[in-house]
Amino acid sequence: MLLKNDLILRAAKGEKTERVPVWLMRQAGRILPEYRAIRERLSGFKELVTTPQLAAEVTIQPVDILDTDAAIIFSDILVVPEAMGLDYEMLEAKGPIFPKTIKTSADIELLTTKTAIENLAYVFEAIRVTKKELNGRVPLIGFAGAPWTLLAYMVEGSGSKTFSKARKFLYSEQALAHQLLQKITDVTILYLKEQVKSGADMLQLFDSWAGILPPDHYKEFSLKYISQICDAVPEVPLTVFAKGAFFARREMGKLNCRTIGLDWNMEIGESRKLIGDDKTLQGNLDPCVLYTSYEEIRKHTRQMIKEFGTQKYIANLGHGVYPDTDKDKVKCFIEAVKEYSA
Ligand code: CP3
Repeated sequence: MLLKNDLILRAAKGEKTERVPVWLMRQAGRILPEYRAIRERLSGFKELVTTPQLAAEVTIQPVDILDTDAAIIFSDILVVPEAMGLDYEMLEAKGPIFPKTIKTSADIELLTTKTAIENLAYVFEAIRVTKKELNGRVPLIGFAGAPWTLLAYMVEGSGSKTFSKARKFLYSEQALAHQLLQKITDVTILYLKEQVKSGADMLQLFDSWAGILPPDHYKEFSLKYISQICDAVPEVPLTVFAKGAFFARREMGKLNCRTIGLDWNMEIGESRKLIGDDKTLQGNLDPCVLYTSYEEIRKHTRQMIKEFGTQKYIANLGHGVYPDTDKDKVKCFIEAVKEYSA
């Protein structure tokens, strides 16, 4: 299928673009009343994720309503542990919990890599339906959680400010941690490859809890596995977004991926120097800027583009958009990127 708008793919590949492409992490979700309307009719988040026709519908909503330059498949990073046999629940207003957590070698052995991909068939079907319905309007981004971030949830059992159980695990059960990370990595490689076969045009790895690790642990327990994934999935451009990993930017510049996502703590010029000129950069507006006035949003967006430049750059926020953000402010950001970068 020929893409009518391939700006983001060209930017990711380091090719020339007429203007900067823009999308938002977490663009499909509660910022849109149209999403909330569908969500209210259902038993819960998981019904939406596992019903391909509905997942496709909410994936396309931000393209229709916000005019983004990419769609990201509606799913969650936690579908991978679930497919390996560790069930999660998504509690209203509280976030995910895992009733059973990983503690021992036996827990890890019980996790399946064999049937995990079959258990994720609904994601591949959602990608196929979405691609068909997008009809080439914009590229579709597939994604997965980075192995460390998935381990963090699987060991901790829920979100946490410190993830101290998960971090303790890295110190006290080093061998088990590596065993678990390798198992997650093996499944993630197959999972991403299958997303590409199903129609994903590019991929993103979310390492949401990168920033809580000390630099030596980050190299040993996260980058090592991200690097394996980058090497194993060369089919389409891959973005690595490691929230808070300012200390690892130089190493990230050496990964076998096309794009590095920056959060809003990372200074743009310094990041470019550390990561190097070859890679495309993505980010990094503070999501809180979208709570300010239209004038302020335009001003900050313009400044951000000035600092990144218009080439080898994909505009985004520095993390997911907050659910209580006014969608007209999101639109203002998107229009400002298009206007100032053309
Ligand atoms: O970006 C998109 O629009 C695509 C969909 C998407 C979701 N989750 C849907 C979702 C993506 C890419 C994710 C990734 C994800 N999930 C991450 C990595 C990105 C990040 O934000 O750091 C993480 C850490 C998760 C785990 C997760 N899922 C948490 C901690 C929560 C609860 C917090 C929250 O935002 O509610 C979720 C729930 C979730 N995932 C929702 C959505 C739309 C909200 C659930 C709802 O609609 O009730």
